[in-house]
Amino acid sequence: MATAETARLRVNGTEREIVVDPATSLLGVLRGVLGLTAARFGCGANQCGACFVLIDGHAVASCDTPLWAAAGKDIVTLEGLGTPENPHPLQRAFVAEQAMQCGYCISGIIVSAAALLKRNPDPSEAEVREALDRNLCRCGAHNRIVRAVLRAAKEAATP
Ligand code: FES
Ligand code: FES
Repeated sequence: MATAETARLRVNGTEREIVVDPATSLLGVLRGVLGLTAARFGCGANQCGACFVLIDGHAVASCDTPLWAAAGKDIVTLEGLGTPENPHPLQRAFVAEQAMQCGYCISGIIVSAAALLKRNPDPSEAEVREALDRNLCRCGAHNRIVRAVLRAAKEAATP
C-alpha cells in the first residue's frame, strides 16, 4: 500500500495543500479530498469528458491525470468558472437554452466550451461541435448544448 504524501495544488485560484496517496488521480483529489464534485466520474479512461477540468486553460480529463502532472499548474473546475450569484456566460446560456437533461455530462461540456471561447471567442457552429467532440452526452442534448455555447459567445460579445 502506497504511503500518503503531501502535495500542493492551485485550484480555482487558491493554493491547497493535501496529504494523499500519490497514485490518486486529480479527479479523486478534487471530489474526494477537496469536495469539488462538479467534475464527474464517467468512464475513468479519458473517453467521455465527464471529468474535464481546465489545466492551464486546456480542457483535460482529470480521471486520467496523475497528481504530479497537475502540480504547479492552474486548475479550474466548474465551481471556479462562476457562482449562482455571478454565473459564467456559459452557465447563464445553458440555463436559458435548457441545454441538458440528466446533467451528468454538463460540467465537462461547459469546461470544454470555456476552453474553446477562451481561444476562439466567436466560433462557428462547426467549431463548437468539433471542440465538444470529446464530450459524450448520453441524453442526446447535443443540439441545445451547441445553441447554448453559441448564445454564450454572442452574449459575451455584446457590449
Ligand atoms: S471520466 Fe474522465 S474522461 Fe470519462
Ligand atoms: S444531459 Fe444527460 S448525459 Fe448529457
